[in-house]
Amino acid sequence: MSGLYLLLLSILLLCCTGSASSIFSSNILVACHPRHVQALTQFKNEFDTRGCNHSDYSNGVWCDNSTVAVTKLKLTACLSGPLKSNSSLFQFHELRYLGLSQNSFTLSSVPSEFGNLNKLEILDLSFNGFLGQVPSSFCNLSLLSQLDLSYNHLSGPLNPNSSLFGLHHISYLNLAFNNFSSSIPSEIGNLNKLQVLSLSSNGFIGQLPPTFSNLTGLTGLYLDQNKLSGSFPLVLNLTNLSALELSHNQFTGTIPSSLLTMPFITSISLFDNHLTGSIEVPNSSSSSRLERLLLGNNYFEGKILEPISKFTTLMYLDISFLNTSYPIDLSLFSSLKSLVALEISGNNISPASLRASSGIPLSMVSLILSGCGISEFPHILKTLKKLAYIDLYENRIKGKIPEWLWSLPRLSTVNLISNYINGFGGSAEALANSTSMLILNLDTNYFEGALPDLPLSISVFSAGYNSFTGEIPLSICNRSSLVTLALNYNNFTGQIPQCLSKLMFLNLRKNNLEGSLPDIFYTDSSLTTLDVGYNRLTGKLPKSLLNCSSLRFLSIDNNRIKDTFPFWLKALPNLKVLTLSSNKFYGSISLLDQGPLGFPELRILEISGNKFTGSLPPNYFENWKASSLTMNQDEALYMIYTRNAYGSITYTYRNVIDLRYKGLHLEQANVLTSYSAIDFSGNLLQGQIPESIGLLKALIAINFSNNAFTGHIPLSLTNLTVLESLDLSNNNLSGTIPNGLRGISFLEYINVSHNQLRGEIPQGTQITGQPKSSFEGNAGLCGLPLDESCFGTSAPPIQQQKQEDGEEEEAVLNWKAVVIGYGPGVLFGLAIAQLIASYKPEWLVKIIGPNKRRNR
Ligand SMILES: *[C@@H]1O[C@H](CO)[C@@H](O)[C@H](O)[C@H]1NC(C)=O
Ligand SMILES: *[C@@H]1O[C@H](CO)[C@@H](O)[C@H](O)[C@H]1NC(C)=O
Ligand SMILES: *[C@@H]1O[C@H](CO)[C@@H](O)[C@H](O)[C@H]1NC(C)=O
Ligand SMILES: *[C@@H]1O[C@H](CO)[C@@H](O)[C@H](O)[C@H]1NC(C)=O
Ligand SMILES: *[C@@H]1O[C@H](CO)[C@@H](O)[C@H](O)[C@H]1NC(C)=O
Ligand SMILES: *[C@@H]1O[C@H](CO)[C@@H](O)[C@H](O)[C@H]1NC(C)=O
Ligand SMILES: *[C@@H]1O[C@H](CO)[C@@H](O)[C@H](O)[C@H]1NC(C)=O
Ligand SMILES: *[C@@H]1O[C@H](CO)[C@@H](O)[C@H](O)[C@H]1NC(C)=O
Ligand SMILES: *[C@@H]1O[C@H](CO)[C@@H](O)[C@H](O)[C@H]1NC(C)=O
Ligand SMILES: *[C@@H]1O[C@H](CO)[C@@H](O)[C@H](O)[C@H]1NC(C)=O
Ligand SMILES: *[C@@H]1O[C@H](CO)[C@@H](O)[C@H](O)[C@H]1NC(C)=O
Ligand SMILES: *[C@@H]1O[C@H](CO)[C@@H](O)[C@H](O)[C@H]1NC(C)=O
Repeated sequence: MSGLYLLLLSILLLCCTGSASSIFSSNILVACHPRHVQALTQFKNEFDTRGCNHSDYSNGVWCDNSTVAVTKLKLTACLSGPLKSNSSLFQFHELRYLGLSQNSFTLSSVPSEFGNLNKLEILDLSFNGFLGQVPSSFCNLSLLSQLDLSYNHLSGPLNPNSSLFGLHHISYLNLAFNNFSSSIPSEIGNLNKLQVLSLSSNGFIGQLPPTFSNLTGLTGLYLDQNKLSGSFPLVLNLTNLSALELSHNQFTGTIPSSLLTMPFITSISLFDNHLTGSIEVPNSSSSSRLERLLLGNNYFEGKILEPISKFTTLMYLDISFLNTSYPIDLSLFSSLKSLVALEISGNNISPASLRASSGIPLSMVSLILSGCGISEFPHILKTLKKLAYIDLYENRIKGKIPEWLWSLPRLSTVNLISNYINGFGGSAEALANSTSMLILNLDTNYFEGALPDLPLSISVFSAGYNSFTGEIPLSICNRSSLVTLALNYNNFTGQIPQCLSKLMFLNLRKNNLEGSLPDIFYTDSSLTTLDVGYNRLTGKLPKSLLNCSSLRFLSIDNNRIKDTFPFWLKALPNLKVLTLSSNKFYGSISLLDQGPLGFPELRILEISGNKFTGSLPPNYFENWKASSLTMNQDEALYMIYTRNAYGSITYTYRNVIDLRYKGLHLEQANVLTSYSAIDFSGNLLQGQIPESIGLLKALIAINFSNNAFTGHIPLSLTNLTVLESLDLSNNNLSGTIPNGLRGISFLEYINVSHNQLRGEIPQGTQITGQPKSSFEGNAGLCGLPLDESCFGTSAPPIQQQKQEDGEEEEAVLNWKAVVIGYGPGVLFGLAIAQLIASYKPEWLVKIIGPNKRRNR
């Protein structure tokens, strides 16, 4: 119904019958001029409109009753392709409303021809791919009252002569989430009709110009996530302000209590600035309408809590990381009868006030107490019947989870990561009886014994890094909402249930599971991660993995799988990580046709410690993704910890891979956004190491050690500029070490010991700084770090032999130590976001605040 194509057909019909008709549930469409209909058709043909089928029902075209000209055009999430300056769009001179949000105008700048549409009153170009600057022709849009350019890639300084400052009627201006970088020109004061101004998430610097005080009509001011500075009183004579968002900047000074008592203010976020001092107890707080106050991550000293408790209309309060010297007493908040969400993370909380009847408001829905040094399960939760979200991350809670927790009727998200909890109190049934639980994370505690049945409603369950034993309960099979299951680093035994085919994320690493991997994956499986490493699995890889076209991460290492190399997995278009190390794989790893391996997206391939045989053709490493040094940020394999503007924390665990190669730093491996690694060590591979290895520019680690490779060290290795670890030891390589290896500046570790190499070791600091053992056991290497000079021998041969024996032992240990580990899995914060959203007043929905990102 909402497709542009259908729409145009309808318009044509309307033209022919001449009657007005309702084709959308709520929008009246009237007859348009045939010339305009033709132009619309042309406009449509400029783009790929396949997306229109799925888009918004409010899309449509509206024409004026008398002039039959197009006055309103709204096409959201519909068009794809560049918006050209000769587009038919610019023929609609009578347009008053133009909504083109969420289209994919791929990498084009905003055409200056928008300046022709000078009847425009509302222009929405948000969420497009626009680049460059705001065209100067915008000054022509003198009737414009609402302009939304948010979520584009617009950049450059906002010059005093910017056309934006000529928009004298503008009341709503949104430039959020772009890349503007400059101070805010004093010409902003010209826009004195402004009611809502958002400059969030750009690169704005410096102080607010004094002319800001001219913007007295402002009701919403959003300047968060910039590098703005200056101290209060910043905005005090903007007396109509209702929302003030200054979080994540560098504002200084103290908060005047008159800010909190401005007549219409309902939301203030000062989170993450450099504010100091205390807050005066306001005497006019009773008339306050303040609903949301985020003060965390500042440098307050002295009294701020007592004054806050006077704002009885507060619904959202963040006072995390206050650095108070005294513990916070929760009873301070008993006067806040409307409180819905409270975050106190990073402060000490008085233990007594967590025990019982502290008078904490019963309205609480979300409570975030992470890193508060809490040592027993807070009993006050028992009284909070509306509680949906509780975060107790990184405390010191001992003992069992009390049974009553599961009977809180609305509880949906529980985060208990990193505590000392050792079990479930009361009956094991209690957890299963919860009807509201969606996300439960028990990672890194001391749980032991059998895993109880999970609630039917569970969607994400994570219990990694505990000491659970027994079998994975089969009851898990009818938990039909479950998408993420992480039971890694426990002591589960028995078989993997034959039912987990609907999951997106399954992590069973480091348990004692037996039997074979279930062959259960259906077509359209949405599995993205499967990690069953370090178990006792036998049998073959299940062919139904081929149905998992979303699979990115497949880790089977350290099991007893006996199979040939799974060439068939190359049909998986998204597979990035494949680890088969330490199993009983056998046979060749190159196909009979001797072509490239040809996995389309592969970046990490680890097959060490198997019985793979054969040789690799010269072009083996051609056409690998690892040949590109860039990797989409989204696809980076790491874990993020975010706090959103509403004061709640979201954990998003992505796949984490610990690359344990000598010389490679673990932390680095976790945060790197572009890398790749290859470990073929400990197999029976022979022949030459393919020259095409030099094409994999993103390689940071190569381990070909303990095979039977012959021939020369590939010269192309010198092209791997980010390489940090190279192990070719214990092969039959001959010839010399390529001199170009000297130039690889990141090379931390190199080992070519126990080969048939000759000649001078390349003399560069990265290489001569290695231990002797990295070069010993060759046919005739000389130069540092070895004692042998290339101009005559020095050390007596007998002593040399002795030392070599010792070193050989160390070398063997080294390659055995090449193991990998993966951290916990995906945990969706979605439910939380939705939860909070449903408690948001409307003005908060308009502009979503930025996330604070902290790597942990
Ligand atoms: C929209 O969907 C219909 C059927 O679902 C299809 O026939 C039509 O081609 C689609 N239109 C576009 C523009 O993709
Ligand atoms: C346009 O015409 C429709 C139906 O004929 C009518 O309902 C509507 O009020 C008219 N609008 C204006 C602005 O005249
Ligand atoms: C716009 O210009 C391009 C060349 O830049 C041309 O290919 C295209 O046909 C023109 N489109 C229209 C609608 O005139
Ligand atoms: C401004 O609008 C007029 C039409 O009213 C047009 O002729 C002129 O080219 C426009 N200027 C710019 C800079 O787009
Ligand atoms: C605006 O001012 C900048 C310097 O501040 C100048 O470089 C630029 O050319 C001016 N642009 C216009 C359209 O006048
Ligand atoms: C944003 O601008 C800065 C410099 O002003 C530049 O370094 C950066 O690459 C830009 N980012 C994007 C996404 O355009
Ligand atoms: C402030 O607004 C007035 C109109 O209310 C305007 O005349 C004046 O130029 C503005 N001042 C500044 C500095 O922008
Ligand atoms: C705003 O306050 C400043 C002093 O803080 C004053 O100079 C200015 O005139 C005030 N502006 C308005 C519009 O009230
Ligand atoms: C402030 O808001 C009131 C009531 O909404 C309105 O009458 C008044 O004009 C506003 N003040 C300014 C300076 O816009
Ligand atoms: C769980 O629910 C069942 C059925 O509603 C009930 O019989 C049982 O007592 C409940 N168990 C606990 C521990 O709440
Ligand atoms: C796992 O269980 C086995 C046998 O039940 C036991 O020997 C082993 O110590 C346990 N391992 C851990 C890490 O708890
Ligand atoms: C290194 O790469 C360049 C192109 O990137 C290529 O021309 C050159 O042959 C390569 N060198 C070796 C030794 O493979």
